[in-house]
Amino acid sequence: MASDPITTGTTTWSDRFDQGLHPAIERFNASIGFDLELLEQDLDGSVAHARMLGRCGVISEAEASELIRGLELVRAEAAAGQFNPGLEAEDVHFAVEHRLIALLGPLGKKLHTGRSRNDQVGTDVRLWLRSQIDLIDGALVRFERALLAQAEAHANTLIPGYTHLQRAQPVCLAHHLLAYIEMAERDRSRLADVRQRVNISPLGAAALAGTPVPIDRRQTAEELGFDDVYANSLDAVSDRDFAVEFMAAASLVMVHLSRLSEEVILWASEEFGFISLTDRCATGSSLMPQKKNPDVPELVRGKSGRVFGHLMGLLTMIKGLPLAYNKDFQEDKEALFDGVRTCRDCLEAMAILFEEGLEFRPQRLEAAVASDFSNATDVADYLVAKGIPFREAYQLVGGLVKTCLAEQVLLKDLPLERWQQLHPGFEADIYAAIAPRQVVAARRSEGGTAFDQVERQLQRIRTRLATTGQKG
Ligand code: ARG
Repeated sequence: MASDPITTGTTTWSDRFDQGLHPAIERFNASIGFDLELLEQDLDGSVAHARMLGRCGVISEAEASELIRGLELVRAEAAAGQFNPGLEAEDVHFAVEHRLIALLGPLGKKLHTGRSRNDQVGTDVRLWLRSQIDLIDGALVRFERALLAQAEAHANTLIPGYTHLQRAQPVCLAHHLLAYIEMAERDRSRLADVRQRVNISPLGAAALAGTPVPIDRRQTAEELGFDDVYANSLDAVSDRDFAVEFMAAASLVMVHLSRLSEEVILWASEEFGFISLTDRCATGSSLMPQKKNPDVPELVRGKSGRVFGHLMGLLTMIKGLPLAYNKDFQEDKEALFDGVRTCRDCLEAMAILFEEGLEFRPQRLEAAVASDFSNATDVADYLVAKGIPFREAYQLVGGLVKTCLAEQVLLKDLPLERWQQLHPGFEADIYAAIAPRQVVAARRSEGGTAFDQVERQLQRIRTRLATTGQKG
């Protein structure tokens, strides 16, 4: 007959088993190598569960207090680096239970009354993810603040705007940066939405069907700060939608960071020359002494793939699972842990990059917008203001640009006679109308790049961020 696995630390289960696990299978099966990340949450969940068992009269209040004391001892041991369970513990839940029994004796065996590791692990992961979402929100706010500071400093700087990566129309640099703040704000709102569905308690669903033990799920849910409890015990232990939703939201965070990274990498190239990298975030080459490399945005761009991969991994892991709990779910941990860590690290790195890792080069930017045909639309708009139909003006200007390219002359350098030959509507004020600063200032439609419109955006974001508490 097998002995009690919990007290002996062997990997046999109950008296149903005669033999221990094959050592390779023990390793294969265990999650203790990574799920100690959930230790705090596991202890919090167990404390709430023990207190509830006491209040409901399942165990005595004195026993509940003793269990809680034991759990706090485990917490203290862990803080002192003295809680280092081995493979035989299998996972964090068993590791805590083993230790509790070692500390308290037989009373420790009462903790698991009315629950299963299935609802326990679901509770732990939700508590963990909830706190990580709050940290990511704080990291998004810091990133937005870094962008905002650059936008404030460049409310009057121009930068070429592109479509198809071809020069299109000049824009205000602040306008460009504010676009990324808009993306980050959507990320925050998506994460806040996901958080609502993360914050539902599965505890008390037990293995799958609920429990005959007279527990009170609302009590543990309330103590743990959950907004509600799962209505269906099968759904409670087998729902990982929240993990997918989180990874989808994190993937979009990474998409946004990666797009910005790509721009920074281009801007830092000699071909663009729109920014210089400071020594704080750039690295040199081991071979080429002249090099200064944008490693930070390159890594962010590269790391985005890990998060998208975790999203696919989670969807695929879940899609064929019958109700209710399946061990496949153990695979959600490393995906979530790595996805969260990657997203947080990348947000922090990009915030630092914009805080102190790069400097825009206003002269280069100014020269860039003054030396192209990105004011051609404004010539057409000038004629439109004189009553010429847009399509006709568009054709005229198209022809003009073609000649200018052939003659290697910019629109601003054409003499007035040439303008008037093209159309009698042109007057001397055409030069002012096509100056880059005027081109930008003219785009006053709501949300446009005109300086007064950008100032309104800045004002809105400033106010929003001023009233946002930085959580992480
Ligand atoms: N380590 C498992 C996980 O991460 C805990 C739950 C195991 N439950 C079970 N009945 N085997 O999902």
